[in-house]
Amino acid sequence: MKYAVIYSSRTGNTKLLAETIIESMGEKECLYFGPAKEDRDVREALEASDMIFAGFWTDKGSCDIVMAEILKTMENSRVFLFGTAGFGGAPAYFEQILERVKGNLPDSARIAGTYMCQGKMPAAVRERYVKMKNDGVPGVNADAMIENFDRALSHPDEKDLEELKRRMDDIKEG
Ligand SMILES: Cc1cc2nc3c(=O)[nH]c(=O)nc-3n(C[C@H](O)[C@H](O)[C@H](O)COP(=O)(O)O)c2cc1C
Repeated sequence: MKYAVIYSSRTGNTKLLAETIIESMGEKECLYFGPAKEDRDVREALEASDMIFAGFWTDKGSCDIVMAEILKTMENSRVFLFGTAGFGGAPAYFEQILERVKGNLPDSARIAGTYMCQGKMPAAVRERYVKMKNDGVPGVNADAMIENFDRALSHPDEKDLEELKRRMDDIKEG
């Protein structure tokens, strides 16, 4: 099976998932591994792939704009979506994000699978939450946000990557 792994990752969390995918699938059949970009060689590699692994970081509840634009071009492709998000703990939240991300794909694309896990966030985000807590911003549960931030710090962790590898085993088995 010829495949491509294309991802967008600002701080490395999603890139770590992408690296786990190529490690599991083996480099031999990989036509493209790298960041999301609009470029003729990348386009050709995606078109020649039997499966595209498309990775995104979550930006305001959906995939980042760079990946959104590339997903829109995946006519007739088999796509495995993977991503990371700062907020974890509730599978329903990941499902919501994935539904929005899928909305970028053309009708002719087929979803081969999905995987999401939590991803650590920059320290400045925690500082913002602490400020919210200290300022007593109404309607904001700053304690819960700080707790979530601290839980995210270790992710993606070994367990997340093991689960992704299991999904890759399923893909390989067809
Ligand atoms: C501008 C910005 C917006 C974000 N929006 C969300 C969001 O809506 N939901 C969420 O769960 N995480 C959000 N995050 C957190 C990132 O999605 C998360 O840290 C992700 O793992 C980053 O992936 P990367 O390391 O591959 O860039 C946001 C981060 C940034 C910088």
